[in-house]
Amino acid sequence: MSAAVFPFGALSDGTPVTAARIENDAGASLTVLNYGATIQSLRVPGRGGAFVDVVLGFDSAVEYGAGADYLGATVGRVANRIGGAKFTLGGKTYSLAKNDGENHLHGGVRGFDKRIWAIAATEDSVVCERLSPDGEEGYPGDLHTRVTFALTQGSALRITYDVYAGADTPVNLTNHAYFNLNGGGSAMEHVLQIFADRFCENDEHCLPTGRLLSVTGTPFDFREAKPVGRDIDAENEQLRRGGGYDHNFCLSGRRAAVLSSEESGIVMTVETDLPGMQLYTANFLSENPGKNGVRMARRGAVCLETQLYPNAMNCWGFPTPILRAGRHMHSETVYAFSVL
Ligand code: BGC
Repeated sequence: MSAAVFPFGALSDGTPVTAARIENDAGASLTVLNYGATIQSLRVPGRGGAFVDVVLGFDSAVEYGAGADYLGATVGRVANRIGGAKFTLGGKTYSLAKNDGENHLHGGVRGFDKRIWAIAATEDSVVCERLSPDGEEGYPGDLHTRVTFALTQGSALRITYDVYAGADTPVNLTNHAYFNLNGGGSAMEHVLQIFADRFCENDEHCLPTGRLLSVTGTPFDFREAKPVGRDIDAENEQLRRGGGYDHNFCLSGRRAAVLSSEESGIVMTVETDLPGMQLYTANFLSENPGKNGVRMARRGAVCLETQLYPNAMNCWGFPTPILRAGRHMHSETVYAFSVL
């Protein structure tokens, strides 16, 4: 294994950005930026030994700073949506930044994805840390966050989240990598299996209503592997609301999903100790020129965002996202790669 930390240009206001890169003995590599604790590149072996960068991203810090799609970023303090941008905790109502109509999305106007983190590399991992101060984007209490990205010799990426709360607060961290196992082009022919019997019903703003729906007999049934795009344009009110898949799946166990591409031969399995996973088929992805000469486009990637259920603060019965003062929360997600 080898590791390096190096400059990655600067944001448009001149703030320098740093990258940390680790590489295993087989030549697989991971590059993480201190801006947003962002996965900038993840190169894994495909069929015939050719390496493929399986996450969409940019070549420059300026483009990350201007981007609106959370490409590869660590998302928090609370990932996905909070209805009405408010919640009540301990008898007090907290108002959060509104950045998605009347709702709060992915931590607000300047969430964790748009912050500079402390970054360090060990031989086999990149560690990003930051203190989110009391009141940031409306959230209560200081929150110390450490995200560790470890790359194994077997080309698995293990992301662990360790969070310490100074006051009672909701927390729900995820990574917003846009996976394309061919490195670019449409991702709708990728084959996907999701181990979930139910998913969260969304309202017209992609906000969970609190109801869980059965996947049986719907386009949301991924229990048998099928191409991501096979049913995406089916006549279905839930799909219409998201312009495709943009829903939280209620995972049945630790094994969350398997994504594969016949073209590159790459198989990615997702495991997590979290109860939910957002399947987002890049329905709103901006048409930007990306790194490696790849043109990013709608439905050109699959996001598999492991998480607590969105809008949990406002939905009775969802697993609680509350971390109590003085307590520590730990979770992990593993993206493991192999070849067909
Ligand atoms: C959300 C989408 C949102 C996207 C932003 C996803 O996690 O579910 O609704 O548009 O992030 O990139």
